[in-house]
Amino acid sequence: MIRVPHRPAVTVILMALLALSIQALSLPNSAPAAEIKFSLAGGLAQKFEGIGGISGGGATSKLLSSYAAKFPRKYNQILKYLFKPKFGAALQILKVEIGGDSQSTDGTESSHMHTADDVSFDRGYEWSLMKDVKKINYDIKLYGLPWVFPGWIGGPDLDPYYNNSSNLLRYIMTWVKGAKAVHGLHMEYLGIWNERPWNADYIIMLRKALDASGFASTRIVATDSLWDVGFLKAAAANKALYDAVDVLGAHYPGADSPPEAKLLNKTMICSEEFSAYNDINGGGCWARILNEPFVMGNLSGAIAWNLLTSYYRGFPYSDNSLMSAREPWSGNYQVKPPIWVTAHHTHFSEPGWRYLPVGNGSGLLPGNGSYITYVSPDAAHVTVVIETMDPHDAHCFYSMPQYPIADVQTVVLKFTDGLSSITRFRVRQSVFDYGNRTARLFQKLPDFPVVNGTLKLTLTKNTILTLTTMDDAGPTDDPSQIVNEKAPTNETFFPDVYREDINELRDEEEPRYLAPQAGVWEVRSAPDGKRAMAQVVTQPPVDTCYPRFPRPGALIGDYSWTDSRINCSVWLPIWANASTGVYLGLQANQAGASMVHSSGVFAWLLPLQGPGCGGYCTVLLMTRDYGMQQAVYSSVLDGLARDSWISVSLQMLKGFVQLRVNHKLAYNGTSGWEKLPSGWAAVGTQNFGVAYFKDLSVERLGD
Ligand SMILES: *[C@@H]1O[C@H](CO)[C@@H](O)[C@H](O)[C@H]1NC(C)=O
Ligand SMILES: *[C@@H]1O[C@H](CO)[C@@H](O)[C@H](O)[C@H]1NC(C)=O
Ligand SMILES: *[C@@H]1O[C@H](CO)[C@@H](O)[C@H](O)[C@H]1NC(C)=O
Ligand SMILES: *[C@@H]1O[C@H](CO)[C@@H](O)[C@H](O)[C@H]1NC(C)=O
Ligand SMILES: *[C@@H]1O[C@H](CO)[C@@H](O)[C@H](O)[C@H]1NC(C)=O
Ligand SMILES: *[C@@H]1O[C@H](CO)[C@@H](O)[C@H](O)[C@H]1NC(C)=O
Ligand SMILES: *[C@@H]1O[C@H](CO)[C@@H](O)[C@H](O)[C@H]1NC(C)=O
Ligand SMILES: *[C@@H]1O[C@H](CO)[C@@H](O)[C@H](O)[C@H]1NC(C)=O
Ligand SMILES: *[C@@H]1O[C@H](CO)[C@@H](O)[C@H](O)[C@H]1NC(C)=O
Ligand SMILES: *[C@@H]1O[C@H](CO)[C@@H](O)[C@H](O)[C@H]1NC(C)=O
Ligand SMILES: *[C@@H]1O[C@H](CO)[C@@H](O)[C@H](O)[C@H]1NC(C)=O
Ligand SMILES: *[C@@H]1O[C@H](CO)[C@@H](O)[C@H](O)[C@H]1NC(C)=O
Repeated sequence: MIRVPHRPAVTVILMALLALSIQALSLPNSAPAAEIKFSLAGGLAQKFEGIGGISGGGATSKLLSSYAAKFPRKYNQILKYLFKPKFGAALQILKVEIGGDSQSTDGTESSHMHTADDVSFDRGYEWSLMKDVKKINYDIKLYGLPWVFPGWIGGPDLDPYYNNSSNLLRYIMTWVKGAKAVHGLHMEYLGIWNERPWNADYIIMLRKALDASGFASTRIVATDSLWDVGFLKAAAANKALYDAVDVLGAHYPGADSPPEAKLLNKTMICSEEFSAYNDINGGGCWARILNEPFVMGNLSGAIAWNLLTSYYRGFPYSDNSLMSAREPWSGNYQVKPPIWVTAHHTHFSEPGWRYLPVGNGSGLLPGNGSYITYVSPDAAHVTVVIETMDPHDAHCFYSMPQYPIADVQTVVLKFTDGLSSITRFRVRQSVFDYGNRTARLFQKLPDFPVVNGTLKLTLTKNTILTLTTMDDAGPTDDPSQIVNEKAPTNETFFPDVYREDINELRDEEEPRYLAPQAGVWEVRSAPDGKRAMAQVVTQPPVDTCYPRFPRPGALIGDYSWTDSRINCSVWLPIWANASTGVYLGLQANQAGASMVHSSGVFAWLLPLQGPGCGGYCTVLLMTRDYGMQQAVYSSVLDGLARDSWISVSLQMLKGFVQLRVNHKLAYNGTSGWEKLPSGWAAVGTQNFGVAYFKDLSVERLGD
């Protein structure tokens, strides 16, 4: 995906407080207003699947477990803002990555099967997230999807469908069964392969395997990519494939579905959407995503990438999420506008409710903008959500409709045929003032009376309005829902000195602040029995990055760091699966898939065995890049044994780099280092192979 730069809004709009008013019906001077009909007579449209967020794709919740450990109350508050019914976003779906040991946007997530005969359900942070969310919202619908896979699945060509997908099927079924048996987590939805090729035989086999293992109620979503007409045509032509798929899941569909999709008459959802910066512009975009895809494309649910920014600032797509919690050192977190935009829908609807069809309760407004209506199964409750977000202000990542919006429009809502008994609505309103960078979100207004089945509204641009027959116990004028983006923020930064304390971690747990971009680090016992952080990926994974990562690497610290130091002890075992070398780095300036292009100060220890080296020695290599293309220095270090701890300290101060190995100065020099851009500290291995790291610390030096 290509990042769309955040564009400041330029439109000046009418005063927020005048955003909406109810007018008496029979005012003599009122202009003729367009009438909008709400009726049950034509029956109900699709079932509403729900609104959700994605943890993963990848490592987007990386820093959240540190909140759980250090700030449990704040951790709980964050989950409440996201998932607690009728509280914040009150999300109905949680989609997680099935960790695959490889980079999947903001890092790697650990796999439950690193190798063909390895299995553990105690890795990564998605299990604990799902379980903790379930404690807050028992009815949460879970959705698992792989982005990448351990290399063993893919055979020689790293193709997950290798050997008739036999490895893949075993791998995914092991995860689904383990989720249930070990963690009590049932998958409502299961995807195929994020934004990558699908395979009809695999989908059909997966359906059979789920049915045969007691997971008949787990629904297969395909294809988790942009609309794939090839797939849609295949599903129309192949009954087994058609029957195997329950939900058509499209990424960034831009409010529409192609005729080939509609023809299949299946549930359709935006299975990944949003990817917008979570300010008031992104909040406005999310409001459009929650309405327009139903009105224009029959899509009946939306899932935001991503759930929560819990990865370092400067990583790809920072704050492209519903809210942000990326300061685990202080416990700070930010509840962002998309949270309250979601609440407009989720507080007053449930998955399983149905929409009113376009023309009879859902549609486009006469001055543009849209409205949808959710109806409870017994038709006892009705919730209408109206949005007049200007596409120019509420800019979306992918192309949503670009119509202009009337500054003000007056509409008369007519409730007939089964809805004429409604006499009042509870009301929630969000008003965005893009000129002032302020918004009053999800504010409770006094009830709107419905007189004789009729309600007249004057709608200004950039407003969201929920009308519901449900109760609403929320307070009026909740100050936490007032946003002023010009006010100073209280961002806290990575500590000046940080030591990774693995004694706080379980076996197989990922180090707290170390953020793997390729490879996976887990707490394991080193050959001497000491607990350490092991890089455990021993063969190139089924990577979806181009170019592929040649080697593991993990980042820590802050991207603004220049003068800094990293200390770490390293151990290269003599096992067949060991790596051929290790490195420490400073000022690594690229994260995510771009880490392959990272510059920085990289110090490599590369053991050599052979006659040219007097039997055994270690080559020290200094490079200005992760890619090992820009070497600036090399030497041979004597007296370093392979199968033992070696302490390394790498420092950059005012353009001078010093490297100490076992406390001896091994490199001291300038070499244009001062020209390097700032960046994170890094550790890694030369190739996919095991190495151990302990006593990791990073420091910011200088002022
Ligand atoms: C809308 O309702 C009318 C009856 O009021 C009905 O005839 C029509 O079929 C309905 N349209 C849709 C799309 O359901
Ligand atoms: C191919 O899959 C079958 C199971 O369907 C398995 O027995 C066989 O070992 C696999 N072959 C290879 C080369 O992985
Ligand atoms: C397995 O895949 C091979 C090609 O990779 C194919 O020739 C063979 O027919 C497949 N076997 C089954 C049982 O599907
Ligand atoms: C579409 O699916 C719905 C629900 O499964 C069903 O009631 C309806 O008859 C189907 N319509 C067509 C045209 O197949
Ligand atoms: C899709 O929506 C249109 C109206 O917008 C409606 O006429 C049509 O029946 C819907 N199709 C399905 C499959 O629900
Ligand atoms: C609504 O959008 C359409 C284009 O989709 C445009 O032609 C029309 O002028 C817009 N209406 C208003 C009131 O701006
Ligand atoms: C900003 O807000 C102030 C006070 O609410 C209001 O007087 C002013 O008109 C607003 N400015 C713009 C550009 O909307
Ligand atoms: C209510 O609506 C009906 C039909 O539209 C109309 O005949 C009647 O006069 C209205 N009553 C009031 C009090 O407005
Ligand atoms: C920032 O901190 C100040 C003082 O501690 C506090 O009054 C203010 O509310 C905080 N602002 C935010 C956005 O948290
Ligand atoms: C590497 O090999 C050693 C020795 O065979 C084994 O104990 C260890 O589990 C392996 N590690 C990984 C991550 O495969
Ligand atoms: C890192 O190592 C250097 C050199 O041995 C030492 O001076 C420094 O205090 C160490 N830093 C930390 C945080 O332990
Ligand atoms: C490191 O190099 C600088 C500049 O050449 C020199 O001044 C300094 O003495 C050296 N430090 C050591 C410990 O050799």
